[in-house]
Amino acid sequence: MTSSTNTGWSRRNFLTTTAASTMSVTLLNRARGETSSTEKSTDPMAPLSLKLRINGREHRLTLDGRTTLLDALREHAGLTGTKKGCDHGQCGACTVLVDNRRVLSCLSFASMVEGRDITTIEGLARTDGTLHPMQQAFIDNDAFQCGYCTPGQIMSAIACVKEGHAENDAQIREYMSGNLCRCAAYPNIVDAIKQAKPQMKEA
Ligand code: FES
Ligand code: FES
Repeated sequence: MTSSTNTGWSRRNFLTTTAASTMSVTLLNRARGETSSTEKSTDPMAPLSLKLRINGREHRLTLDGRTTLLDALREHAGLTGTKKGCDHGQCGACTVLVDNRRVLSCLSFASMVEGRDITTIEGLARTDGTLHPMQQAFIDNDAFQCGYCTPGQIMSAIACVKEGHAENDAQIREYMSGNLCRCAAYPNIVDAIKQAKPQMKEA
């Protein structure tokens, strides 16, 4: 009977050779910048693959983990209706709805809203082009001048009504105070919200 030692091959040789070759492949892959499919990247700078549901449609985006929802919408999903004003959570121009609640998209990471329903100004009108009652009310009441703040105002105004915070002028002003308008269209915005409120209940 021939022993493994006699053939120059032992269990110890086998384990050492296998471990060495596995390490070589891994190191070679790393040197090439490759990651195996089963190896999840631990690199915090690695891009994230996200599925965002925006206006009822799924968008598959590959984003830097630090991308805000605002930049994901504007720069990656091509939805430029949501505006960037201050980019610091102070003006409300970037307001969108997430699961029907208003959110400042400049202060939210895109990765935080994966799997949730995101609604932007582009998602309000019906497919036949009929405007949402709040959009129509803003037009009817001249509730804008330059229009830059308007998408954020309209998204916020819809949430304001749905939250039950549109009972009177003072309450509307209070609950719309996070949305600034440099053109000072505030009285017209209050009128628009009062017009749209009963129509939203009927719709
Ligand atoms: Fe987000 Fe101003 S751009 S609050
Ligand atoms: Fe110009 Fe509001 S309409 S900033």
